[in-house]
Amino acid sequence: MGFLSDTLSRVKPSATIVMTQKARDLKAQGRDVISLSVGEPDFDTPDHIKEAAMAAIRRNETRYPPVSGITELREAITRKFKRENGLDYKVSQTIVCTGGKQVIYNALLATLNPGDEVLIPTPYWVSYPEMVGLCGGTATFVETRLEDNFKLRPEALDRAITPKTKWIILNSPSNPSGAAYTRAELKALTDVLMRHPQVWVLTDDMYEHLTYGGFEFVTPAQVEPNLYERTLTMNGVSKAYAMTGWRIGYAGGPEHLIKAMDFVQGQQTSGACTIAQWAAVEALNGPQDHLKTFKQAFEERRDLVVSMLNQTKYLKCPTPEGAFYVYPSCAEAIGRRAPSGKVIATDEDFVSELLESEGVAAVHGSAFGLGPNFRISYATSNALLEEACSRIQRFCGALS
Ligand SMILES: Cc1ncc(COP(=O)(O)O)c(C=O)c1O
Repeated sequence: MGFLSDTLSRVKPSATIVMTQKARDLKAQGRDVISLSVGEPDFDTPDHIKEAAMAAIRRNETRYPPVSGITELREAITRKFKRENGLDYKVSQTIVCTGGKQVIYNALLATLNPGDEVLIPTPYWVSYPEMVGLCGGTATFVETRLEDNFKLRPEALDRAITPKTKWIILNSPSNPSGAAYTRAELKALTDVLMRHPQVWVLTDDMYEHLTYGGFEFVTPAQVEPNLYERTLTMNGVSKAYAMTGWRIGYAGGPEHLIKAMDFVQGQQTSGACTIAQWAAVEALNGPQDHLKTFKQAFEERRDLVVSMLNQTKYLKCPTPEGAFYVYPSCAEAIGRRAPSGKVIATDEDFVSELLESEGVAAVHGSAFGLGPNFRISYATSNALLEEACSRIQRFCGALS
């Protein structure tokens, strides 16, 4: 028997972190590398939020927090859900965790038993299946298609649900595809879920505020109020407020589930960092003006990247509604020879050859459960995006 646990052997390293590290290593060797693999805004946390954190330190808000979060933040969360999503949650129905990631982890740890299935549409955020595995459940998958802009069809959802399905994880706008469901599209899915009362909904709304072209964001418990009793509505400040490093995520849901998550968290972290919680109070209650700037910049970049990729030989790129990712198909590049002489057999080959020959780091689609595709994060400057897309065009143009 080895020293490390069997659980550990079930976990895969995050492909996005591996790619980001590869790009860093090449850069350290002096190579000119453009990294389009990271999943965070390139903006700074707005100043009024940073000021709130500094004021919290000066007030000595530096002791253990209540496990579920400071009351001021939980109140701000209830107001946010009401204001932005039309959802009524009491303070006791909310929880603050160390990032959106820990919200999901707590929920799964608090509810999964061996044999329980968690249904995950592909392509998915890389952490979902790993977290399910770590919590002792079984991840099951349902595919979306490029023709449907990577949105789940109600018939496919209906077919994929089994008597053992305990949760479905929905993520709109999506990491990695950027796809977001309209009210009608989401209602078609919640109609299916109404016919399967054993299934709980974990909705990951992290990218709620990053939608473009007048798209109206909606969340499952809002479009189908009858799902409220079995929905965990998850969100956080990481993406919309450029606060990835502050590690604050939160959720609203049925009180008995929130209590169980509090129980788990009490034996894990004892609660999220108090200073970051005070910063999040300001993020949710304070001015939202920065969002206009973020959205404008991201929309411009999305349009630039989609247009350049669609002018690239062998690539096809749908226009996503939100987040800061695009997920082009490289199916037509498979089987062709790269400048290095290597034949590209998979999307993983595609991204490693692209990195080798042109110094552009992207992440292969098979890491997100659907390929041959690759994910590009456009959370970087227009100039770098233009240069990166020109390099991708040159790379694809040189395939034979
Ligand atoms: C879809 C999705 N959910 C959750 C998270 C995690 O958010 P946090 O950084 O707040 O833990 C991310 C971060 O990349 C994400 O892309």
